[in-house]
Amino acid sequence: MDATAKRLLDWYDVNARVLPWRNPPRAPRPEPYRVWLSEVMLQQTTVAAVGPYFEKFLARWPTVSALAAADDAEVMAAWAGLGYYARARNLLACARAVAGRGGAFPDTEAELRTLPGIGTYTAAAVAAIAFDERAAVVDGNVERVAARLFAIADPLPGAKAAIRARVEILTPNERPGDFAQAMMDLGATICSPRNPGCVLCPLADECRGRREGAEQFPVKAAKKLRPSRKGQAFWIERDGKVWLVTRPGKGLLGGMRALPDNDWSARRDGAAKPPLVGDWQPLGRVRHRFTHFDLELQLMLYSGADWVRLVGNEGEWWLIDALESAGLPTLFAKAAQLARAVKV
Ligand code: ADE
Repeated sequence: MDATAKRLLDWYDVNARVLPWRNPPRAPRPEPYRVWLSEVMLQQTTVAAVGPYFEKFLARWPTVSALAAADDAEVMAAWAGLGYYARARNLLACARAVAGRGGAFPDTEAELRTLPGIGTYTAAAVAAIAFDERAAVVDGNVERVAARLFAIADPLPGAKAAIRARVEILTPNERPGDFAQAMMDLGATICSPRNPGCVLCPLADECRGRREGAEQFPVKAAKKLRPSRKGQAFWIERDGKVWLVTRPGKGLLGGMRALPDNDWSARRDGAAKPPLVGDWQPLGRVRHRFTHFDLELQLMLYSGADWVRLVGNEGEWWLIDALESAGLPTLFAKAAQLARAVKV
């Protein structure tokens, strides 16, 4: 084994983080279902945020077949708050594909890649961690560690191919899953974006980036400005209940329960009419940051009584005191909180 990989694994043996989906270093491999579920949840989301969701999913759906048999709306509601809801839809599609094969995940990176919602990263992570395949696992932390270790001066995202090539070479035949997680842990704890703790780093002596100033790696191309969008959401209340809709399956927050809105998106401000004609009063605004845009959402309160016109719209009355169980994504949970705080 390459001396760098060996040093990193020796470090991991002592310093591996204890995480709910993990087995300790050198222990038998964790079940593929746990690995897959955690890796899907961990994309774009922090370890701290994922912990409780992972435990909740595992308690409620202990096997991939149990998850495959779950009701779509229940899974979407259980995912509420984790963000990037396309992942939850793909999670179900993937669970059903695996259940269709008898409940066993394929055990190679190439076959995993063919399942719904499993991309390059997840296929490699599951293959390495659950099946001990020598697969190059490259997430943001690993990218940073490798860019520093090899002082890769090309800016991201262009440098991704060069970084991946380096990680492929570095990944050992033995313990590739531990190696991948060691790279992640090093990136998360020592090789941090700012103020990296190089004095504690097991790879400090051989790190080329360190000699040139570790913090300048990875070099990044100038960011595009994130646009700001404006939209409205509509609070329609009757007898202690509020009118909720289910958003279309595809697109932003797709398949999630939500307040009705005026059709804002990443590309445009909202301009559609409210779902009822009548009196609307502004209740206030909430702000929310999506990956590609910032949204300022104005919440409008309906003060008419023409509710019958809602019938025929896709939607349902939801008890306001039980809104926690509706599985609203964070944006609409914020709006609901605002409504409950300011309404007279
Ligand atoms: N981030 C993504 N996957 C991870 C893992 N298996 N361990 C720690 N952090 C991670």
